[in-house]
Amino acid sequence: MAQMQIGSVKLESPVFLAPMAGIADLPFRLLCRELGGVGLAGSELLNSRAIARRIPAVCEKAKLHPDDRPLSVQVYGNVEDPLPQAGAWAVEQGATLIDINMGCPIDKVCKKNGGSLLLKTPGRTANLAKQIIDACDGVPVTAKVRLGWGENELTAPDLAKRLEDSGIQAITVHGRTTSQKFSGRSCLDGIAKVVEAVSIPVIGNGDINSPESAQRMFEYTNCDGVMVGRHSMKEPWIFDDISKSLRGETPIFRDRNMKIKIILRHLELILEHRGERSALHCITNRIALYGRTLGHIKPLKERVRLAKSADEIREALEAWLTLELVH
Ligand SMILES: Cc1cc2nc3c(=O)[nH]c(=O)nc-3n(C[C@H](O)[C@H](O)[C@H](O)COP(=O)(O)O)c2cc1C
Repeated sequence: MAQMQIGSVKLESPVFLAPMAGIADLPFRLLCRELGGVGLAGSELLNSRAIARRIPAVCEKAKLHPDDRPLSVQVYGNVEDPLPQAGAWAVEQGATLIDINMGCPIDKVCKKNGGSLLLKTPGRTANLAKQIIDACDGVPVTAKVRLGWGENELTAPDLAKRLEDSGIQAITVHGRTTSQKFSGRSCLDGIAKVVEAVSIPVIGNGDINSPESAQRMFEYTNCDGVMVGRHSMKEPWIFDDISKSLRGETPIFRDRNMKIKIILRHLELILEHRGERSALHCITNRIALYGRTLGHIKPLKERVRLAKSADEIREALEAWLTLELVH
């Protein structure tokens, strides 16, 4: 497996956990890291204006934990927003890298000119990137883009080149356009065009759900790293599986007991770092996704979904573990 490096930052694996607002929070990132194979994880996207105003709930999301490194802190905003100041603040907090969101398709973000809208104006966006880089005191700055706004505006290769010229040190490409949101498939040809356009590392993203699909992303696009988002909600051990397979090792076979213990660990990590309300909210919501790899566990899913406390969730999961051992 080739060593992956972004600017001066050396990474142990070229397999990254995607930034996912409301999903890839501190407990989930710690869980994925404990399971292995995560070369880099991204924070949830942070509004630069909220950082400038030091809104506690937003600042909390960038708080560094010693076991949550290397961490890429992602900021968003438009050309008039205090993005350079937000980047500088994240550097002060100890971020390993600063990532600029140029791919969010959600109205709330891109209607205010942040996220994906930056894809439409490559020149202005590259100027903005330069200001952020200047403010970040040598800490590498990266960008996460989609292929373009719509299928007739595939600006990503041109934008990527301009960003490289401004000093951006790596680019993640989600192989869909903004208009597509999450429909269709991530387009490997589109990602390959960005790889051809630049000399900095490119991370391929979109629809990776197995070591085979990661391998396909590497081979087809010639990218330097891969990023996994949604599938990690079902299988947070996917990073370990992909990294092992890239090293020529066989991924671990995880039976149902091992997977239930992983959900229990997730529960404990949320309780430790976020408290009981978050734990209830998260596990009751995500048990269906976790459940997809667990076979026929309808009664367990029902019990977890209806749980009123973390203890009830724990008991439900542990009872199923005991059942497994008895049978
Ligand atoms: C619930 C959710 C939240 C997301 N939040 C962010 C975000 O904050 N910043 C970002 O750059 N991308 C965000 N994304 C996009 C992912 O990082 C990733 O690019 C996309 O899901 C495609 O990868 P996947 O097919 O592996 O999920 C989000 C995606 C989802 C499903």
